[in-house]
Amino acid sequence: MSFVESSSVITYDGGIRAEEMAMSDGLDTEVAHPARRYNYWLGGKDNFAADRESGDLLAKSYPAARTAARANRAFLQRAVRYLAAEVGIRQFLDIGTGLPTADNTHEVAQRILPDSRVVYVDNDPMVMTHARALLHSTPQGRTRYLEQDLRNPERILSHPDLVDTVDLDQPVALMLVAIVHFLPDQATARDIVATLLGALPSGSYLTMSCATKDFLTPELAANWDATLRNGQSDVYPRERAEFAEFFSGLDLLEPGIVPVSEWRPDPDATERPAPLEASIFGAVGRKP
Ligand SMILES: C[S@@+](CC[C@H](N)C(=O)[O-])C[C@H]1O[C@@H](n2cnc3c(N)ncnc32)[C@H](O)[C@@H]1O
Repeated sequence: MSFVESSSVITYDGGIRAEEMAMSDGLDTEVAHPARRYNYWLGGKDNFAADRESGDLLAKSYPAARTAARANRAFLQRAVRYLAAEVGIRQFLDIGTGLPTADNTHEVAQRILPDSRVVYVDNDPMVMTHARALLHSTPQGRTRYLEQDLRNPERILSHPDLVDTVDLDQPVALMLVAIVHFLPDQATARDIVATLLGALPSGSYLTMSCATKDFLTPELAANWDATLRNGQSDVYPRERAEFAEFFSGLDLLEPGIVPVSEWRPDPDATERPAPLEASIFGAVGRKP
């Protein structure tokens, strides 16, 4: 898929509506997609009726869905800030980018280290149409966007644009934020994460978040199971022990595995939801 060249398409908070883009771009608007549903929960306008319906439906069984989405996004931003400012990481591989919003990975990283390089990956064609917004790099740094699928990690790792942008002999922060729960099978998900980490040198980091039912009431947990059973949800939660498996062989940074809102929270944050409202595990680990 090629870029849509009209600059209006990439004016993120300005003009073009999702529906108009779909007409010019051949997107399948009838089926809800995670990126657009998440955009809806975050208060964005780059979503369609099917995404809004799916978002409302899931929010019925888990009313804190919007709060959880915001808490998750804030976790991503704090993790990037920490990795750039405290660790000096200058390379990021952000898979499951989502639609651009304020303070995307490269903006947070390049504000601290302007020569940071970021490769974004997503499989939603609509993210591709907005990718220009992700490519406004500092002159010293570089960003690239790949329309690729997490389920094919080898293709991501060998992609010429990745190899051209990121030096795989130097530490890389692998960002898998709110994406792994779209993979239903834990063993497959573990293998994919292990393949990606296997390609990164010592001193690299994994930042991950993943939905969980661990903090939910039995009633909310049962609702979630029902939406999965009847095909209304594509979010497969992980228990704490399953989430921990992704970090096997890594050194977990403090505070370890916690609800995303509890991971190094900003002291002056206006919103710090309780675990029930941010039922997403978050953690950052270092490859020794
Ligand atoms: C909930 S959004 C998270 C966005 C961002 N990482 C964040 O946490 O703010 C999940 C993103 O993962 C993408 N995604 C889901 N499954 C994917 C896959 N198999 N390969 C690549 N991207 C995928 C979706 O298109 C969506 O943009």
